Amino acid sequence: MSAGSGGLSSGGPGGQVGGAAGTAPRTVFGHLEPYAGDPILSLNEAFQADPRPDKVNLSIGIYFDDAGRIPVLDCVRRAEAQMLEESGPKPYLPIEGSAAMRKAVQGLLFGAGHEAVASGRVATLQTVGSSGGLRVGADFIRRWLPGAQVWISDPSWDNHRAMFEGAGLAVHAYPYYDAATGGVRFDAMRDTLAGLPAGSIVLLHACCHNPTGVDLSRAQWEALVPLLRERGLIPYLDLAYQGYGDGIEEDAFALRLLAAAGLTFFVANSFSKSMSVYGERAGALSVVCADRAEAELVLGQLKATVRRNYSSPSIHAAGIVARVLADPVLRASWEADVAAMRSRIQAMRRALHDVLAAKRPGRDFGYFLTQRGMFSYTGLAAAQVDRLREEFGVYLVRSGRICVAGLNSGNVERTAAAIAAVVA
Ligand code: LMR
Repeated sequence: MSAGSGGLSSGGPGGQVGGAAGTAPRTVFGHLEPYAGDPILSLNEAFQADPRPDKVNLSIGIYFDDAGRIPVLDCVRRAEAQMLEESGPKPYLPIEGSAAMRKAVQGLLFGAGHEAVASGRVATLQTVGSSGGLRVGADFIRRWLPGAQVWISDPSWDNHRAMFEGAGLAVHAYPYYDAATGGVRFDAMRDTLAGLPAGSIVLLHACCHNPTGVDLSRAQWEALVPLLRERGLIPYLDLAYQGYGDGIEEDAFALRLLAAAGLTFFVANSFSKSMSVYGERAGALSVVCADRAEAELVLGQLKATVRRNYSSPSIHAAGIVARVLADPVLRASWEADVAAMRSRIQAMRRALHDVLAAKRPGRDFGYFLTQRGMFSYTGLAAAQVDRLREEFGVYLVRSGRICVAGLNSGNVERTAAAIAAVVA
């Protein structure tokens, strides 16, 4: 390519390239914008780098035990021991993932013998975490439901918007959290959804809303179903915290309600939190369809989406999840561990509430007790969050979200005292 042609030409030392004649040579990547970092993951990294011994990590949605460690569940250890013992070959999994894991996931989500599963109208594939599932579903929507726009709750998990926009979809927000009452703006949410065009995608947190911890009640879910059906809206459930709300079965309520109502919908679910296997990237995407023939078409196109992206998921993640869910002994051990993690979080909610209520008697901290799952929306302003981090070494995201699972008997009083100091 000749100089001055307007295209890239190989430049001099250091990979410089020249543009049009007369312009200064530049490097290939010098024009990139710096990555601003992720509001959650970068904060977690900043926490790791903080040398203060009494720092407290409430930034990221990870369950820590009372000693501040990420637990390795006994059921996972035993499943891995079995896998090591078998020491089999490690071929590529099929594009859609392990058949054993997919079957186990369907049983977990829909319950034994559910009509939707039995009739073959659920397309399930193992994905790279539920994030991978969300994104595969988003790419599929962009390709096969062109023009569909996505509606997420206000607020929602920080990455939802980026993920769907990254797939080329327009993303909007529907009213959700009511800062004045600490509840859901249900009427406003319903009115907004009632005005959406048919075929809109409505992202809903199936339980343990992230970041607020404020869930729809069962009655509110039941009121949504006819609206979703009549308006022809397509729910997309994010189920990342199954078991952390009211129980493993209880937290599948919304999903089973939509399935029983005959709606077509997506659900991305995760084992990161429930099995404490964050780095294994264990998740799945299921699409509930009208019938078996449609589910086969959907599965085929989801496979095409995966093949041109990461090709196939992890065999190790599949081995853990399939074994824990299918083996009755491992399953019972897992269910007991999930119950213990859930109740430890509830105990921390209570402890935080009690210390704050004693220190700031004029204020209502009841929301710590009514919110579900790992997260609480504290209502703290960004400046108060900054003070907590800088003065007290307490890390939370600047929206005021705390991960209650980062509290333990050794730090909860100190954390409560720090929060009391900044709200004074
Ligand atoms: C969170 O919300 O903190 C977690 O889901 C971790 C993440 O990837 O953001």
